Amino acid sequence: MATRTARRPEAATPRLDFRTLSVEPFNPVVGAEITGVNLSAPLSPEQIAEIRAAFAAWHVLVFRDQALGDEDHKRFARLFGALHVHPYHAKAAAPDHAAAAGAAVDPEILVVKADQASRFVAGEEWHSDVTCDDEPPMGSMLHITRTPEIGGGDTLFASTVRAYEALSPAMQAFLGGLSATHDGAKPYTGAYGAAPPPGGWPKTAHPVVITVPWSGRKALYVNRGFTTRINELERKESDALLDFLWRHIESHVEFQCRVRWTPNTLVFWDNWSVQHHAVWDYYPYPRYGRRVSIIDGRPAA
Ligand code: SIN
Repeated sequence: MATRTARRPEAATPRLDFRTLSVEPFNPVVGAEITGVNLSAPLSPEQIAEIRAAFAAWHVLVFRDQALGDEDHKRFARLFGALHVHPYHAKAAAPDHAAAAGAAVDPEILVVKADQASRFVAGEEWHSDVTCDDEPPMGSMLHITRTPEIGGGDTLFASTVRAYEALSPAMQAFLGGLSATHDGAKPYTGAYGAAPPPGGWPKTAHPVVITVPWSGRKALYVNRGFTTRINELERKESDALLDFLWRHIESHVEFQCRVRWTPNTLVFWDNWSVQHHAVWDYYPYPRYGRRVSIIDGRPAA
């Protein structure tokens, strides 16, 4: 009797030529370091096209030694879509150094901050950003300016494209007919162990399998951070299937890369092709950065 083994998609590092920047892939699946580009200056159309090509191929782009102000950061982000306003900003004043100093909070910037007073940190659970929104961010750009003196504070990324491709054709076909609910209160009631800020949080449905428009590849689009239910299944069936999919994405190290931050690193990640997990292994040391996210429509099957 024939035995079935886990599918192993062929490694296929894209063969791309870059003329205006250098691309050093971490592995054939996800993540690349980009050099030869200064994000504080306007970029040429050719540089932008090459960044788009690298983004479609490796999903997580790491730019080091980028001394950026908020306007530089936002100008770079706007090349890829409109800027996202986090629901947190729509509901309450965000905890921001600027606010603490009496300055205005910028709703297009999400402060990512941990220190001795932190009870939880953003993203310490596998997730894609803000999938509870009808138009969830297609990408995010995090600029870290302070890293913990003791080391740590890395971010892990897992390719949900690769995770989809590693499933059997029968499972792919079954998942292709399903949708899931994503609830903005879940990070608070789940990973953060706190009550969600008052005012009601976005809740929406997206397909379980999406087609990423800029690569044409299919990806799993359910995440532990926000997804609560597969809509077409009974509760127990939904719980079991979500648990399988999350473990499948999170436990396969061959779908993943790990970014070690240095001050003034900007990482641009594809929220529709990867999930990420911020490792909080450095308490009580401080870490600080600012994130801008980009919207460009709804993810579709
Ligand atoms: C996040 O955007 O989820 C936080 C990522 C990080 O702090 O590395």
